[in-house]
Amino acid sequence: FSAGSEYDLCVIGAGPGGYTGAIKAAQLGLKTVCIDKRGPAGGTCLNVGCIPSKALLQASALYHEAKATFESRGITGTENLKCDFDKMMANKNTAVKKLTGGIEGLFKRDKVKYLKGWGKLTGPNSVTVALNDGGEETITAKNIMLATGSEVIEKLPFVEVDEEQIVSSTGALDLKKVPEKLIVIGGGVIGLELGSVYERLGSKVTVVEFLPTIGGIGIDSELSKEMQKILTKQGISFKMSTKVTAVEKTGGALKVTTEPAAGGGAESLDADVVLVCVGRREFRDGLGAEEVGVELEGRKVKVDDTFKTSVPSIYAIGDIIHGPMLAHKAEDEGAMVAEYLATGKKPHLDYNNVPSVLYTHPEVAWVGKSEEQLKAEGVEYRKGKFSFAANGRSIANMDTDGFVKVLSDKKTDKLLGVHIINAIAGDIISGACIGIEYGAASEDLARVCMAHPTVSEVLKGAAQKTAFGKAVSG
Ligand code: FAD
Ligand code: NAI
Repeated sequence: FSAGSEYDLCVIGAGPGGYTGAIKAAQLGLKTVCIDKRGPAGGTCLNVGCIPSKALLQASALYHEAKATFESRGITGTENLKCDFDKMMANKNTAVKKLTGGIEGLFKRDKVKYLKGWGKLTGPNSVTVALNDGGEETITAKNIMLATGSEVIEKLPFVEVDEEQIVSSTGALDLKKVPEKLIVIGGGVIGLELGSVYERLGSKVTVVEFLPTIGGIGIDSELSKEMQKILTKQGISFKMSTKVTAVEKTGGALKVTTEPAAGGGAESLDADVVLVCVGRREFRDGLGAEEVGVELEGRKVKVDDTFKTSVPSIYAIGDIIHGPMLAHKAEDEGAMVAEYLATGKKPHLDYNNVPSVLYTHPEVAWVGKSEEQLKAEGVEYRKGKFSFAANGRSIANMDTDGFVKVLSDKKTDKLLGVHIINAIAGDIISGACIGIEYGAASEDLARVCMAHPTVSEVLKGAAQKTAFGKAVSG
């Protein structure tokens, strides 16, 4: 491809949404260019999100498991177990590099032109790229896909994030040492995942959460309460219904002032590191979207059911549009736009069937509606619940925390929601996603032959309770 040539598709942003869309488009025969200002491809997810956080979650979980459970499992000699934090961080960096490099490899394989620089819309079919290496390039394309993702909301008015002592998730994934005392502002997904990492590595972790519940948006309150109990037992302290009103640097330490959310007396806590994780917001800085006529709804880019914006040649996907800010949702949207542009087919995504997973230990995973949502919508439902304490494999694994809850329509038995707490809840939930996608009833799930002995059998047990009122075991 030469500079200034005409493309079929120009994708701005090489995160999970953008890179998936670009690769799929190229595979379907579209001449495609993808632009990202970050440099390494992979977006938030691969560089400072899903992948580095899971690398640290896995390493810290192994360390904690060895320390806390090996002796009771009959494995001795772990008394002097130590955590080489620098090595853990180096392994995390290696995983990130391998994966971001891998995306650039896929770009090459499928002949997606990758440009490292800041893309700005200059018309319905043109983008100017301020190249990271200097200079500018103008791209013209029949269609443009906006996939510019999201950024941390760091601007609590009284907190200045320096990414060293007062950190967002990005700084928390790159600390130089394990803090003695870590205060986490926000008990949502990031707070619980990264709070767990440092608690396992020895930090005294306190989570300050504004709401009375943890786990972020959409979590079923029964799971939220159970997880708070489990994480408290693991050693994380929670200050619920509490707001932070000040974070001050006092010499080397930090002083954090809190107040009850409903008002009341102030309290102060000290910390070495404060992690601010109170949500993310859409990133459109310097994109020029509104200038070329792309309409917004609130902070989100407004799209129709083919992800077309108010400018017919411009599409938008991922964290900048409606729906949950999740990598798998962005990926599916990117691929759908590519397919639509290349073939005219109109694939769709059932937003009720996008799973959420919290990668703590145990994990929390759910798909479909929570009990609170069903009650609010006035839907009558059946509920079956089965505990992992009654599952053979979980007992053999000495890992019995959690349960599966299956919700189905009271009259038709159609699956409405599945909610799981378990060590591998994020994997088990895929079975429920397939059920919901194909319109299964809880009875269908209850009649699927599942391998024994597996932890997934609990999904079947819970479905039996929903469908028949009783399970054979448990
Ligand atoms: P992004 O991944 O944000 O990518 C957008 C890219 O566009 C960026 O690289 C940016 O540099 C680039 N860009 C923006 N503007 C321009 C411009 N004008 N020109 C050029 N380039 C531009 N989700 C999950 O599903 N599972 C998880 O386990 C998970 N863990 C997470 C952990 C953390 C700590 C964080 C912060 C997020 C996590 N997420 C997770 C969320 C996930 O990362 C996002 O939902 C996902 O990355 C969104 O994909 P995207 O393609 O829409 O945007
Ligand atoms: P979040 O929305 O999950 O949680 C933010 C929490 O902060 C909420 O519980 C909220 O009540 C609380 N909060 C807000 N303002 C506060 C204040 N002033 N004081 C105290 N608490 C306050 O947001 P989070 O954790 O920052 O994550 C952002 C997004 O990143 C997630 O919504 C998700 O889309 C994505 N993500 C997904 C992951 C996954 O899928 N496993 C992992 C990490 C992030």
